[in-house]
Amino acid sequence: MQRKILVTSALPYANGPIHLGHLVEYIQTDIWVRFQKLRGNRCIYVCADDAHGTPIMLKARELGITPEELIERIGREHQEDFAAFGIDFDNYYTTHSRENRELSELIYERNRDAGHIDSRTIKQAYDPDEGMFLPDRYIKGECPRCGAADQYGDSCEACGATYTPTDLNNPVSVLSGATPEERESLHYFFRLQDFEDMLKEWARGGHVQPEVANKLEEWFQEGLREWDISRDAPYFGFKIPGTEDKYFYVWLDAPIGYMASFRNWCERNGEDFDAWWNADTDTELYHFIGKDIVYFHALFWPAMLHGAGFRKPTKICAHGFMTVDGAKMSKSRGTFIMAATYRHHLNPEYLRYYLAAKLGSNVHDLDLNLDDFTQRVNSDLVGKLVNIASRSAGFISKRFDGTLANELPAPEVYREFVARGEQIAELYENREFSRVIREVMALADQANQYFDEAQPWVLAKQDETLPQVQAICTQTLNLFRVLMVYLKPVVPKIAAEAEAFLNLEPQDWQSIRSPLLGHSINRFKALATRVERADVDAVIEDSKATMAPKAETAAEYGPLADNPIADPVDINTFGQVDLRVARIDEAALVDGADKLLQLTLDLGGETRNVFAGLRSAYAPEDLRGRLTVMVANLEPRKMRFGVSEGMVLAAGPGGDELFILEPDSGAKPGMRVK
Ligand code: MSP
Ligand code: ZN
Repeated sequence: MQRKILVTSALPYANGPIHLGHLVEYIQTDIWVRFQKLRGNRCIYVCADDAHGTPIMLKARELGITPEELIERIGREHQEDFAAFGIDFDNYYTTHSRENRELSELIYERNRDAGHIDSRTIKQAYDPDEGMFLPDRYIKGECPRCGAADQYGDSCEACGATYTPTDLNNPVSVLSGATPEERESLHYFFRLQDFEDMLKEWARGGHVQPEVANKLEEWFQEGLREWDISRDAPYFGFKIPGTEDKYFYVWLDAPIGYMASFRNWCERNGEDFDAWWNADTDTELYHFIGKDIVYFHALFWPAMLHGAGFRKPTKICAHGFMTVDGAKMSKSRGTFIMAATYRHHLNPEYLRYYLAAKLGSNVHDLDLNLDDFTQRVNSDLVGKLVNIASRSAGFISKRFDGTLANELPAPEVYREFVARGEQIAELYENREFSRVIREVMALADQANQYFDEAQPWVLAKQDETLPQVQAICTQTLNLFRVLMVYLKPVVPKIAAEAEAFLNLEPQDWQSIRSPLLGHSINRFKALATRVERADVDAVIEDSKATMAPKAETAAEYGPLADNPIADPVDINTFGQVDLRVARIDEAALVDGADKLLQLTLDLGGETRNVFAGLRSAYAPEDLRGRLTVMVANLEPRKMRFGVSEGMVLAAGPGGDELFILEPDSGAKPGMRVK
């Protein structure tokens, strides 16, 4: 029976580029979708840019363009990145669309008419200069607990306290610097608590992963509360029907954007939208998301749909977060890698392969280890898989006129390879991609071993056109074909090139039932080349260079625009500063100080203890053993954690980005810097 499956990935925000973390999700989804299509199911994959909300409105303002221009520009960039990584959407749309406005209004009105919307007046911080209400992250002030300056409205980075913006001392608006006022405003709320029984039953019905189900039980325990779905003007979004100046909060219309993108596709493809969305449809609906947005997808979303009489998701498939070399992606370490930077140096198919080799059906975080990446691609894809074809192809094209033999010498091996297909398909279906890769690579080992033992190169020395040689290579090329079909969802471009080499129409899961015999193939061209560590390093270097904050304005106005050169000092004054080369013997985290590292510096015999605000940019192990430059005659300063005896020099554009200065090789600890 042909299943009908609608699949989505979370909608990326239209205020920044796609990075490798995002790609975990789009690649995971795309592999699953391609697998479903390969199996002959009717599968539609839709997505869109998430175009609404305060950050997008403000970003456009900062760039001096309209939000419409911004989302159009970013939408185009997103689609270029997705295409380059082989993410094959059936439709890619935007939440700022007619379809989404209509569906958002419809879902809101149906819920409202059923009594699931409340309204009441709340107090909120208001920026009198900007004339707008301020979300928590747009307010800064002094921490009410430790007094640290410049802390966000929700928590203190220095001592870890959490609070509300009204608790901050001397609060200021991040936008204007004005002191926020408290003002009243009428807000609209979605009564999530009305759906408690339905949601409990749904959550226990196998629609979410076990870890997610546990999390939901915790939330049920805490109690479901109404959800604020309105925002005041000015806001970039949809106006709430029946109001003058209230807008839907971006998270209200974002998931409806899935439906809207699908409706747009239906209208252009003559498909019956309602047949997929009515409450008793027999179609399936899968949402792939990151673990950070489970609350929206497993509580608000099914409740909104239910309240409006639509179907609910078949499955929410959540994944974990990507780390690079064991740590959170970091701009200063160059591991905050944009899709565009990666593809400038490395083949997107390799990232697809590597992520598949790491992905399971769970919500664990997954690590992109750059050495492992290089090694895995080279040993598996190039060394094992492509090798089967490259070592067999030459014999066939040079000695047998590019034609395969009429019989397989080991048909039982071929049958065994084909028989594995059902198990591999089940692993794909259950999103156990790492196990798919393990199975396929074990088969690749087996194929190579067959070739090694048959030793066609030895036989070919006896007789150039020995039929046995043709038979052996026909066997291995047939095994190669089976494996390429199994990996087609993961590496679609390599698979397409393999099809061209084998002179085949696009293959599906059933194509491999009978082997290729007496069939003529084309000349072999390298399907994949080795990854060089230098290319990986170039990605890191480029990422360091392009990820400096404020990249956009800096590019337009030059790096000194925000940060002009200071007033002159005479040379004698400067000469009073004693700068020395120092070696960082030890670096450690400081309990209770989120921004500091404690450094033990060797000045060529003398040791200094220095507290440096480097934690945002460096892990302690990144610094140990390195040389840097310090101010050696700074007056010791008593801090809460101890005495700091000097200062390390680091460059940075302001904020968390920092780069310590390092002398050229040959410099020794204690040397004077002149
Ligand atoms: N706009 C919302 C989603 C709305 S869906 C109705 C959003 N956008 S996002 O751009 O921040 O993230 C898009 C997806 O990428 C989310 O599922 C998010 O979890 C995922 N990821 C973002 N960074 C990630 C990693 N570092 N690692 C893995 N996935 C990550 O959230
Ligand atoms: Zn604090």
